[in-house]
Amino acid sequence: MRIGLLGAGRIGSLHAGTLSADDRVEGLVVADVDPDRAAAVAARHGAEAADPDDLFERVDAVVIASSTDTHVPYLLRAAERRLPVFCEKPIALDLPTTRRAMEAADAAGIPVQVGFQRRFDAEHLTARSLIESGAAGDLYLVHSMTHDPEPPPREYIPRSGGFHKDTLVHDIDAVRYVTGREVVEVYADGAVLVDPVFAEFGDHDVAVVTLRLDGGVPAVLTASRRQPLGYDVRMTVYGSKDTLGIGYGPGLPVHRLVDDHVPDDAPPSFIERFAGAYRAEMAAFLDVAAGRRPTPCSIRDAYEVLRVAEACDRSYAEHRPVSLEEVT
Ligand SMILES: NC(=O)c1ccc[n+]([C@@H]2O[C@H](COP(=O)([O-])OP(=O)(O)OC[C@H]3O[C@@H](n4cnc5c(N)ncnc54)[C@H](O)[C@@H]3O)[C@@H](O)[C@H]2O)c1
Repeated sequence: MRIGLLGAGRIGSLHAGTLSADDRVEGLVVADVDPDRAAAVAARHGAEAADPDDLFERVDAVVIASSTDTHVPYLLRAAERRLPVFCEKPIALDLPTTRRAMEAADAAGIPVQVGFQRRFDAEHLTARSLIESGAAGDLYLVHSMTHDPEPPPREYIPRSGGFHKDTLVHDIDAVRYVTGREVVEVYADGAVLVDPVFAEFGDHDVAVVTLRLDGGVPAVLTASRRQPLGYDVRMTVYGSKDTLGIGYGPGLPVHRLVDDHVPDDAPPSFIERFAGAYRAEMAAFLDVAAGRRPTPCSIRDAYEVLRVAEACDRSYAEHRPVSLEEVT
């Protein structure tokens, strides 16, 4: 199979490494709006470099890992040629554009896999199966957190879509995936405490979101743009028969007071923390593209997650709980 990769930045170069190492990929073509970047990544992985406009006719499936505002235009191009698509999250930052992409993919009959990589993380998968099988018992409460070591550069902030759509979407999707439940109501609070630059763009940098899942189960999401001890993604699921902890292994970026231990082995970023999950999602996509399995994370999932993030935006702005029924 020949795979076209659009975008040779941070995540695109990571996917290039995974794809070029997979025997099922007979050819990899890398394109970027910056041709030098495409050429450098292609050379590093024994791939060909191409202009983005020429890529679609040379490949059997595409991986879209370019800047967010290019996702839907490229997805529509792929749909025109009926090429299976892997698309990084988010599909788009607004619901009508996401819906347009969903309808085009449906009309073309192509599978689209969205890059919510926590669905391929071994601990998240184990938690999901313990809940699904009933081994964890009835669900009482979920806590999911994403705390980044350092805030992104200033120029990233206005194009990010804001803290809920940029960061908390991963927690929203992970909670939906692990529990198998949809979100019915949200309440979002937060503050600007890390860097005043976030306030300049109407954004915030520490967040607490309460979700009500169907069946009445509450979930709490927390996030911050700076965690001085490292990249910190954890989830705790409290059930009637078990309490499940994701992300509590070696490298836990917490100053342990019982023995005054400050760890120095936390993952520095999502790249290291989710290395295995990124590889597994690409391996799954090659199966999806070959028609051997349905997509494990559809545009519909991305649409539902974006609805929840929109509800969070509204709740934060209006300082009130927002029902998902309000967001259509
Ligand atoms: N799933 C995850 O955990 C995860 C992590 C990081 C980024 N992402 C997503 O991946 C995407 C890329 O993020 P990144 O961190 O790699 O950004 P990046 O800025 O490092 O890379 C983006 C690349 O896209 C290229 N580009 C811009 N416009 C283009 C166009 N029209 N055609 C082709 N290439 C174009 C840029 O030149 C750049 O090389 C974003 O949508 C981001 O949200 C997902």
